[in-house]
Amino acid sequence: MHGVAITGSGLFTPPEVITNDELVAAFNAYADRFNAAHADAIAAGEVAAKPQSSAEFIFNASGIERRHVMDKAGVLDPDRMCPRLDARPDDAPSIMAEMGVDACRKALDMAGVDPGAVDAVICAASNHERAYPAIAVEIQSLLGTSGFAFDMNVACSSATFGIQTAADMIRAGSIRRALVVNPEICSGHLEWRDRDCHFIFGDVATAVLLERDEGLSGPRYRILSTRCATQFSNNIRNNNGFLRRAHDQMEDRRDMQFMQEGRKVFKEVLPMVSAHIAGHMQDEGVTADSLKRLWLHQANKTMNDYIGKKVLGRTPERGEQPNILQDYANTSSAGSIIAFALHSGDLAPGDRGLICSFGAGYSVGSVIVERA
Ligand code: COA
Repeated sequence: MHGVAITGSGLFTPPEVITNDELVAAFNAYADRFNAAHADAIAAGEVAAKPQSSAEFIFNASGIERRHVMDKAGVLDPDRMCPRLDARPDDAPSIMAEMGVDACRKALDMAGVDPGAVDAVICAASNHERAYPAIAVEIQSLLGTSGFAFDMNVACSSATFGIQTAADMIRAGSIRRALVVNPEICSGHLEWRDRDCHFIFGDVATAVLLERDEGLSGPRYRILSTRCATQFSNNIRNNNGFLRRAHDQMEDRRDMQFMQEGRKVFKEVLPMVSAHIAGHMQDEGVTADSLKRLWLHQANKTMNDYIGKKVLGRTPERGEQPNILQDYANTSSAGSIIAFALHSGDLAPGDRGLICSFGAGYSVGSVIVERA
């Protein structure tokens, strides 16, 4: 078995930002128009009036202050309420591939590795722009990496499941280096007209480069252990599958976008994640006081505070469990990797940390790393 290390990480941040105030103004304008257009039906009790959203609620419930998106104008247009991301012609790179390539280049530059020395690209994300050819193969072609590439989807846990998949191939010796890339256009599957969730997501792409650890001397994070788990639940679901047309479901149906039972998710996922991390640490002989940092999935600040406290057995010190969701919102699989990319350069050799992501499925993945 070979050792594996993360030698580079990269982050593509879309330049356009939507603050909570801008988001709420657009939502409330949409709700006012809806209510005016349906005034008679609302008065007759046939249609429910759309209540107003509130920036204060959003911040208090989630810790989110703003989010980056690929198209701000479409999201904030009360007559549209979704990004305008035109379908690319077949001879142009897909949007996800462009975002992913940017993040991959940064990860490769950080590690000082030539794309041609990479044997595999895994594009691990919660939505893919098309069914096939794989976005990962397109990224492979745009970067000029060797070997093979494939897409995988485990919703918000895609990054850690991708890391385990790549790490296992490196451990077994079938490849030497892999890029795990997470381009997330969450604005495309978020229902911006639903007050209960319109504030949740943002867009971003992250990438990590994994290498066989032998012979490496630069700063890196050795992967000590990985663990994945899943348990079926309908509480986070998006029905927009490839049979939509076959099902005669071309109309604007709510279940074709992201849906969740947020409260149930909170209640059910927290114990699952806490128990998963505790079991993983115990089996690897990693104690809470030896963990210097937690790079957690970024869905909700209360959730992260709870998990941080459970894992460490005390309230994490500032910096021990960096949150980035105030600036990025929930970016699905990319969240824990944004935290890792932005807050991992300062640990000392021998320091240990844990990357953990969780979400739809349900799914949870954890990666225990050590700075070298
Ligand atoms: N503005 C103002 N009020 C709002 C609102 C908004 N945007 N959205 C909901 N509300 C209201 C609700 O209608 C409800 O009112 P009621 O008590 O009169 O019924 C009240 O605020 C509380 O809503 P609720 O949905 O119970 O809030 P919450 O405290 O559970 O927070 C989430 C909502 C989504 C932030 C929270 O449930 C969460 O983060 N869950 C986990 C989600 C998650 O991780 N999902 C994974 C996604 S990949």
